[in-house]
Amino acid sequence: MGHVGYTTGTKPNYVRTTLTRIFLFCLIFIALRFAYFCFIATVDSSSSSISTVHSSPPSKPKHSDQAIKFYTTLFKDLISDGYLWRNSKSLCLDTPAGDDVLALKNIGVWNSVGVFKKSWKPLVISGQGVNQPFKSDSFDFIFAGINTLDLSKNQSLFANEVGRTLKPEGYFVLLTFSIDTYSFNSFIELFDCCTFMRSRQVRGFGGLGYVREIVMKKESDFERRELIRESVGRVSEDNVCAVPGYKKETVRKAEPLIMEEPLKPWITLKKNIMKVKYLPSVADINFKRRYVYVDVGARSYGSSIASWFKKQYPKQNKTFEIYAIEADKIFYDEYKYRKGVTLLPYAAWVKNESLFFEINQDPGGHKNLVKGRGMGRIKPVQSATSSVAEVDKIQGFDFANWLKSTVSEKDFVVMKMDVEGTEFDLIPRLFETGAICLIDEIFLECHYNRWQRCCPGERSPKYEKTYGQCLDLFTSLRKSGVLVHQWW
Ligand SMILES: *[C@@H]1O[C@H](CO)[C@@H](O)[C@H](O)[C@H]1NC(C)=O
Ligand SMILES: *[C@@H]1O[C@H](CO)[C@@H](O)[C@H](O)[C@H]1NC(C)=O
Ligand SMILES: *[C@@H]1O[C@H](CO)[C@@H](O)[C@H](O)[C@H]1NC(C)=O
Repeated sequence: MGHVGYTTGTKPNYVRTTLTRIFLFCLIFIALRFAYFCFIATVDSSSSSISTVHSSPPSKPKHSDQAIKFYTTLFKDLISDGYLWRNSKSLCLDTPAGDDVLALKNIGVWNSVGVFKKSWKPLVISGQGVNQPFKSDSFDFIFAGINTLDLSKNQSLFANEVGRTLKPEGYFVLLTFSIDTYSFNSFIELFDCCTFMRSRQVRGFGGLGYVREIVMKKESDFERRELIRESVGRVSEDNVCAVPGYKKETVRKAEPLIMEEPLKPWITLKKNIMKVKYLPSVADINFKRRYVYVDVGARSYGSSIASWFKKQYPKQNKTFEIYAIEADKIFYDEYKYRKGVTLLPYAAWVKNESLFFEINQDPGGHKNLVKGRGMGRIKPVQSATSSVAEVDKIQGFDFANWLKSTVSEKDFVVMKMDVEGTEFDLIPRLFETGAICLIDEIFLECHYNRWQRCCPGERSPKYEKTYGQCLDLFTSLRKSGVLVHQWW
């Protein structure tokens, strides 16, 4: 027995030691693995750049319980309000981890998928809001959560894609940080696939503050309407702009016009620029198709584009296309290699025709050639005296017509106009043609017979219009919802 006991005693001992060793090894392995993951997790959460230094495999997107909870509540509301059903085929746009997709599935909307640049199957497949990998008319419900459309580089393309993949009568729901009336109207204009259903503010998660939820429904005859709209054009046929309440509201927030003619205009008007309330500082300019700056009478690149528009105009991180309109050849070289700036080498005028510069005489009687270049009032060639030198001849173009063919109401258009008195021809023409409706904000220098600095009690002989006529121009612009500022 003892012998047996001995032999059987050693064997289990040997087995036990081996087992213990294996067990310990496993324990250490697990402990090390655990420590490693803890380390990676801390590194990940403290700074993502460190984890790339460690060249660990790219971290998977993480679910956020807060986000899932938030989306679950939101979708439950949408179900009870009749915008979402359990059998809705649903799409969530630009969602890295698919928290919103998970929330949909959690409440029983099984047929749901998300898209993001990088796929994370099965919740998220590869695609983008601006490039949705689906056939037209695919979804009953499309959702764009926080920081999707707001951060999109091409919101207009995003809107087109939603209009394409949504089924007729389907619903699109957006969350956005843009909560003012101005951006709301731009949004409605941008998503012309759809009719507006409702808008409300909801509290975001994790200290995000309030976001706006907008619900839209795709028109069943969207494509047909689109064709009709294109053939008719956007500005109404009688060329009268509707002046919506939100535009009036923005104009009300503007700095007041200077009603009294200034005795020292060279001081008063220059100081006024400090008081200017820029449109993007009183309104949210999100959701426009394009952002366009038109400099009429641009002169040198540095004179207003570089020194003022690029430096001082608040752009809310939007990239502006710039058009410089300048008739004087002397400035053209500066524009040759400017990226994002289109030079139109003409004079803004009321029709296409040849014009000439009326070179100003300075009070001393000398031809003010260098400083005065581009400062001359323009006149049609036929009304000029026969002695017009060929060198002063310029090409005028139909500015209002150009504007109508270049921008639309979906675009944000800001303009500076300094055209030496021609504003009294151009602005009325903009009203006549309805092109005025396309301008959101304008910085206008109005040229009148101002009091002169050199000679007290004497008015400038250069211009015949009065300060009162200038005020009429400014007032009529503000009445049409155009935010106009007095420029010097
Ligand atoms: C946005 O997309 C449209 C349509 O593809 C394109 O014409 C436009 O140039 C794009 N805009 C920007 C700013 O990339
Ligand atoms: C513009 O972008 C910067 C950096 O991306 C950001 O910090 C800032 O808040 C943005 N400003 C606006 C008005 O969106
Ligand atoms: C003026 O010229 C432009 C550009 O050449 C052209 O597109 C436009 O049709 C012309 N307008 C008129 C009224 O002739």
